[in-house]
Amino acid sequence: MNRNYTFQKEIVYQIYPKSFFDPSGSGIGKLKGITQKLDTLHDLGITMLWLCPIFDSPMVDQGYDIRDYKQIHPQFGTMADMDELIDEAKKRNIKIMLDLVLNHTSDQHPWFQKALNDPQSPYHAYYHFVSGTTPPNNLRSVFGNSCWEKVEGRDEYYFHSFSKEQPDLNWENPQVRQSLYEMIGFWKSKGIEAFRIDAINFIKKPQQWTDLEPDGPDGLAKCTRIVRNHPGLEKWLKELSDTCFKPDSIMTVAETAGLSYEKLKEYIGEDGFFSMVFDFKHADLDIRSGDEWFSKTNWKPKDFKEKLERSQLEIQKNGWAACFLENHDQPRATSKYLKEHQNDLTAQKMLAVLNMTLRGTPFIYQGQELGMINFKRDTIDDFDDVSSLDQYARSLEHNLSVQEALDVVNARSRDNARIPYPWDMSEYAGFSTKVPWLKINEQAKKNGICFQAQKDDPNSLRSFYKDLIRLRNKSIYQDALCTGTIEFLDTPDDVIGYRRIGQEHTLTVFCGFNKEPLTFPCSSSKKIFGNYQHTQLNDQTITLAPFEAVILTSNIKKKGKSDHESI
Ligand code: NOJ
Repeated sequence: MNRNYTFQKEIVYQIYPKSFFDPSGSGIGKLKGITQKLDTLHDLGITMLWLCPIFDSPMVDQGYDIRDYKQIHPQFGTMADMDELIDEAKKRNIKIMLDLVLNHTSDQHPWFQKALNDPQSPYHAYYHFVSGTTPPNNLRSVFGNSCWEKVEGRDEYYFHSFSKEQPDLNWENPQVRQSLYEMIGFWKSKGIEAFRIDAINFIKKPQQWTDLEPDGPDGLAKCTRIVRNHPGLEKWLKELSDTCFKPDSIMTVAETAGLSYEKLKEYIGEDGFFSMVFDFKHADLDIRSGDEWFSKTNWKPKDFKEKLERSQLEIQKNGWAACFLENHDQPRATSKYLKEHQNDLTAQKMLAVLNMTLRGTPFIYQGQELGMINFKRDTIDDFDDVSSLDQYARSLEHNLSVQEALDVVNARSRDNARIPYPWDMSEYAGFSTKVPWLKINEQAKKNGICFQAQKDDPNSLRSFYKDLIRLRNKSIYQDALCTGTIEFLDTPDDVIGYRRIGQEHTLTVFCGFNKEPLTFPCSSSKKIFGNYQHTQLNDQTITLAPFEAVILTSNIKKKGKSDHESI
């Protein structure tokens, strides 16, 4: 996929449409709201918008359950609004990336409804139905309970990796694949230039549905053990890429949780299926198994650093990375990575430097640029997310107390990221004039976290992101920060240190998680960017202040490898 390198220069901003801006007073974000805010996004410096699903849907999983791939959900607006958004974005050189949900549909999708109503219909073979009077095996879905749902009135079950309202499509069936490819063509013809591809590594199912060793008190076994990254899916990924993406140089980023590094070449190598993949190994460092929120780890900055380094280097060997700290499924980066320092602006700026200077296309999730923090709720009734409700129930099943279960969900809930965007300090944060669909984060509001307060403040986190974006994409250091290679440095455990090596420049970056000043060797002498006014650079050493991030250059024009500085 790497024949076309323009995706290296993109800065992607992820929008959760339901919670971005509601100009209509309905309490739900609108496509028109995004269009109205394009100038502020352009001002930030982003070049691409990733929209979480905006298609017609019963919204059981907030749009990842699609009822009609070619219709806009009326709650977001109309197809004319979508066309307008694409056009207006284009005028500002902003591309649109859509979320492609290809592993499953909604149970309300006409294909599934036809399959349910008539087992003889060709659409029956669009899904995984198995005859019988008991579930074919003991797999547990990602959102809890059996992966098998009984068909009413028939001795038959259907398979779902996520909720029972999200039946999995049968990719073995060429007609399914053709229908999906045709739908992708529809969106391309509307001017969509990029796709984020949801749960794409779930599409291949085992030939036989045998029981697995149970891994919970419910007697079930996580389905991800067998239906995620199941051998054989590669042939379909190649077909998908060759048919839909490569011919038009479409930028793609695939959600491939649990993908082993040995597979990267096939996925993102020279002739890989995708432009890039999301690697979640560092994002899920706070939970042991990657999908059970109650199996918490006691991670240290050193663990984060090791995972991040490994991820960057493995990806560099094969292709290009997607750099992210947040998304709509993750808690806020401030709360997760900074813990009790979540409100510390200096520490937040350090995370920004990390996000924007690693090797890969940076992704910024709405509100991340303002330093949004998690939203601590006192009762499970205040959560909306299907996964939060399941993880709460499962935490109790695993003998956690009510308070412990609530703590688990508060730390990890996807609702932390899904709350309305804080535009100003008014009652509904300037998001809407009506009660929003999900409560505003009052704790963040108390701390004054909002767009209005930050947009003209040169010291704000948003301004800092803006400066970083300019430095990465528009400065003389673009060769190093944007397209340069990465090399990690031997730094103290609490410091992530690396070089970005471009054709012209070599930059050294240090991101400190240290809570006390920390001195270590460093021969780079000239600071070009940082989150402290003054950096203590001495002869051959640097002293990083708490949570300091700094970008240094030796100011030497690079001629060959031997010109690299050493610390
Ligand atoms: C991954 C998406 O990011 C998540 O929000 C969704 O619930 C699942 N895939 C199922 O589509």
